[in-house]
Amino acid sequence: MKILSIETSCDETAISLVEASGGVESPTFSVLANALYSQIDIHKEYGGVFPMLAKREHAKNLTPILEKVLKEAGIIKKESSFVPEEKWEKIKEILKKEDGLYEHFRSFLEPIQKPEIDVICVTSGPGLEPALWVGISFALALGELWELPVVPVNHMEGHIFSVLTQNEDSRKIQFPALALLISGGHTEIVVIDDFGRYKIVGKTLDDAVGEAYDKTARMLGLPYPGGPEISRLSEFATKNNLPHTAKLPRPMLHSHDINFSFSGLKTAVLYYLRDNFNFGTDNKIEPSEEQKADIAREIDDAVTEVLVTKTKKALEQYGAKTLIVAGGVIGNPRLRLSFQELEKEFSGLVVKVPTKSLSTDNAVMIACAGYIKISRDPKILTYPQQIRANGNLSLE
Ligand code: KG4
Ligand code: ZN
Repeated sequence: MKILSIETSCDETAISLVEASGGVESPTFSVLANALYSQIDIHKEYGGVFPMLAKREHAKNLTPILEKVLKEAGIIKKESSFVPEEKWEKIKEILKKEDGLYEHFRSFLEPIQKPEIDVICVTSGPGLEPALWVGISFALALGELWELPVVPVNHMEGHIFSVLTQNEDSRKIQFPALALLISGGHTEIVVIDDFGRYKIVGKTLDDAVGEAYDKTARMLGLPYPGGPEISRLSEFATKNNLPHTAKLPRPMLHSHDINFSFSGLKTAVLYYLRDNFNFGTDNKIEPSEEQKADIAREIDDAVTEVLVTKTKKALEQYGAKTLIVAGGVIGNPRLRLSFQELEKEFSGLVVKVPTKSLSTDNAVMIACAGYIKISRDPKILTYPQQIRANGNLSLE
């Protein structure tokens, strides 16, 4: 089955074409084309993502990215198939809220033939609703034009199944599995009894872990997104054996549950900077690169210790056979290593993390999760094409 997948939940506009086979028993994926446009440089100025700006950028970039994907997959045929004007009217109606998208859409798609694609999958939540709507409208317009089913996909399910692209038989997901989802908006521990059966057993009570990286990085004067910056500096501190001066708390490390809290870490960094560098006052002293690196390493250490300790607690409590750690934050090398080491501590446990490029938001993971959804319930391909964005969509 050839799946065209679309992801626009936050600040990445991503489309991919994935060939999927094997069903839930043996899901196998081959990426035929994958393109992504990151809006990071645009949002950097503001230190975070602005939903209306993200929406406008998605509308501008979706058509060129689709063109790139179809070209990369070698499936553009430059002969037009006749599309009646009524159909264009319907498409215009679907795209009416997205600035200029109808015009781009029609001028690129009118002269080409319907490519060999079986289904379109699109992220419907969670995320920024204005951003989600652009992707959904675009998917529905393509579905109308090419007469293809459109399947909504949960972004967090996408992160979970981002680990499926490494098709090694011996390392398949065995149930019950446990997933630790760590991204810019989520920090969740999920028990997975089977495909599609989720129970959230732990979550953050305030900030998400990615948010903690982004906010503390900002205090250190580092650009958005802060996670990669902190991990780069942290590696520098470790490699150069810089003295450990900064000390930060490990929030909720010893609490009896498996919930998290990261806002205290943010406040602790703020106080540390205020007390040592007069941060927030006129006569502030800039920390040196080495001092920043020391703080970054301490942030990394604190986050790693809390995430690993709580995950171990959850593994003891729920006895999972597979541990999946996914979401943008698992791009962090220190965390990747610490979680992979759990295989030594828990006999029989297989730890799965996505490749680095599939850790942050992308469309391949949406195709993977979409395929699992379709394989479990092929009837969804015949459902009426009514998809709504849901910014707070949950896994349960
Ligand atoms: O999954 P993702 O791409 O988007 C959301 O669904 O939120 O995650 C983005 C988050 C950002 O907060 C970013 O700073 C963080 O992932 N991140 C990292 C690293 N790379 C990205 N955090 C720590 N270390 C990294 N290397
Ligand atoms: Zn994400």
